Amino acid sequence: MSLLAIETSCDETSVAVVQTGRVLSNVVSSQVQLHAEYGGVVPELATREHLRNLAPVTRTALREANVVAAQLDAVAATRGPGLPSALMIGFKSAQAMAFALHKPFLGVHHHEAHLYSPWIAGSPPAADFSSFLPNVSLVVSGGHTMLVHVEAELKHRLLGCTVDDAAGECFDKTAKLIGLTYPGGPALEKLAEGGNSRAFAFPRPMLHEANDDFSFSGLKTSVRYCLRDHPEILSDGHGLRDLCASVQAAIVEVLVTKAVRAAGRLNVGCLTASGGVTCNLALRNGLAAACQKSGILLRLAERRLCTDNAGIIGVLAERKLSRGQSASPLDTEIAANWALA
Ligand code: KG4
Ligand code: ZN
Repeated sequence: MSLLAIETSCDETSVAVVQTGRVLSNVVSSQVQLHAEYGGVVPELATREHLRNLAPVTRTALREANVVAAQLDAVAATRGPGLPSALMIGFKSAQAMAFALHKPFLGVHHHEAHLYSPWIAGSPPAADFSSFLPNVSLVVSGGHTMLVHVEAELKHRLLGCTVDDAAGECFDKTAKLIGLTYPGGPALEKLAEGGNSRAFAFPRPMLHEANDDFSFSGLKTSVRYCLRDHPEILSDGHGLRDLCASVQAAIVEVLVTKAVRAAGRLNVGCLTASGGVTCNLALRNGLAAACQKSGILLRLAERRLCTDNAGIIGVLAERKLSRGQSASPLDTEIAANWALA
């Protein structure tokens, strides 16, 4: 099956062509620089950019895959969650394309696509569901932090999620407090290199609570108070590196501890992680060390597949259609607040 997938849930316009599990092309046009000026994503600007970029990105994806539209067997798009107007561009365009080609269309849950992204590997990337194992999955993106029990392929149950800020939001908001540009996560990680992660004792929210939920807004607030009481840190290179390393360590410790604990409690021998924050090397290393200690197999999404891209949408859509899931009606609407069950 050859399937074209579109992702426009936030600030990346992405189109991919997937053929029997292989990602033939995965073009991502990022709007990061556009939004950096405003310190966060401006929905109206994101929508206009998607409108401007979608046709050229689609053409490039088809050309790179060496596939013409008439050869497609299906079209898919992210249905939610995300920014409503941004989602609408990709979703409605994909439906129009499916209608014109007389091919099935499937709307995909953005987090469900992250959830299965650790099973895509190699160059060019290909889905490897033959090695699939029941797992506990940590999904950490800009707006969401969740733990999910994936009992079988395409069968999962939400264990817990953030009750306020997501881990990515905590990285971004902390980065903003120290003057880094949006999205601050990668910049904060860079500054944290060489810093002393024990220099500041930031809180580990909900670490010891007997549930699978997270909360990161208190951590961000304690960084704000720390900088209010010690503004000199902002102009001290060492101090700033130590602060970043300490914040990162607090976020990573909570994510790693709660993910490994959930796997142990459920007696699940495999842990996976995905979403933008999984690009973070301290998190990747922290998960690797904890899993090794607990005898848990770890599968991390490849870094280029952690941030938003249509490749992960396409792989999941193709898997669902090939396993008999029925296509979505062409008048289906977006679901901007679609919660993962
Ligand atoms: O999954 P994603 O691309 O978009 C959403 O679906 O939200 O995740 C974006 C988030 C941002 O908060 C960004 O700062 C964070 O992932 N991020 C990182 C790193 N790379 C991206 N956070 C920490 N360290 C990184 N290296
Ligand atoms: Zn995402």
